[in-house]
Amino acid sequence: MSFRAIEWKNETSTLRLVDQKLLPHTTRFVDLTTADAVAAAIADMTVRGAPAIGVAAAFGMVMTARQGPPKPLDDMQKSMQRADATLRASRPTAVNLFWALDRMQRAWSVANTPEDVVDVTVKTALDIEAEDIEVNRAISRHAMQVVPEGEAVFFHHCNTGSLATVDLGTALGIIRTAHESGRKVMAYLDETRPRLQGSKLSSFELMQYGVPHAIVVDGASAHIMRTRKVDLVVVGCDRVAANGDTANKIGTYNLALAARDNGVPFYVAAPSSTIDLSTPDGDAIEIEERDGREITEINGVAIAPTGAPTVNPAFDVTPARLISGIITEFGIILPPFAFNLEAILTVAR
Ligand code: MRU
Repeated sequence: MSFRAIEWKNETSTLRLVDQKLLPHTTRFVDLTTADAVAAAIADMTVRGAPAIGVAAAFGMVMTARQGPPKPLDDMQKSMQRADATLRASRPTAVNLFWALDRMQRAWSVANTPEDVVDVTVKTALDIEAEDIEVNRAISRHAMQVVPEGEAVFFHHCNTGSLATVDLGTALGIIRTAHESGRKVMAYLDETRPRLQGSKLSSFELMQYGVPHAIVVDGASAHIMRTRKVDLVVVGCDRVAANGDTANKIGTYNLALAARDNGVPFYVAAPSSTIDLSTPDGDAIEIEERDGREITEINGVAIAPTGAPTVNPAFDVTPARLISGIITEFGIILPPFAFNLEAILTVAR
């Protein structure tokens, strides 16, 4: 892409984010310098996508470590705990947020001096940022095993590309990599109501990379799979439970059902940071409920009757039985997930 969605300026301890609420027609950057501001940007989806919010939160902890005049270690640890709690409360579903904060906490909580707190938080956040890019490249590389040579027609949900990560992305990264490998790629992007990450963000990215695609309304997926050639569905995820049940943007479950009914393989692209073996199954995943105005308004313009009631779950759970494979940086994990996820992650880690 022509810019990074998330960029850390180490000299000034500033996190520069592109405001994803305004894309694709306005490209505005916001500079954040406090953990509170980062938590607010995660909650209002200025920054979004599971890996990106994990990285943003990690840098929120660095800001806290470096904030204000030097403090005794005890006071510093208290500020770190407060920032950690604020960031954890920003969004509940994507486990990457908690994974990144846990990793940061393992580093800062055992530091012996205030200087060490700063050093380990900076190093750990920079590691998380750098690893995200490598992990995404590995996911794309492994995915090529299941992408047909020659012509490859994809179906994709939400935005899982460079905007949702540090760079390249997961599922959208696979589509881009397939295109760059010389395959004749076509991608159907569902618009992804209510926030329209598909039409606003994924199309914006694929236009930049020159990848042929078409935006379709969410309700068109089953029809398109029944009447046109679709080789595979690739989606991202916000949390994979130990049994393979997978939480992702609302509408993913419908897509998986449509894929199953039409014999289309359904793949989930998942950095191992999104696999949460401590969550036994999809029922144990907290599904974020968001403000109903996301449904009744588009860009602040009312499209439903004033006061119309809404129910707005931001994610759903796709049962493991509908998933053909989980594409990780360690390779493609196949069913039975209840056994293979733990076995493969234990060996790989
Ligand atoms: O609400 P969002 O836009 O943060 O939801 C994003 C998704 O559901 C993505 O599919 C997921 O985070 C994976 S991004 C690589």
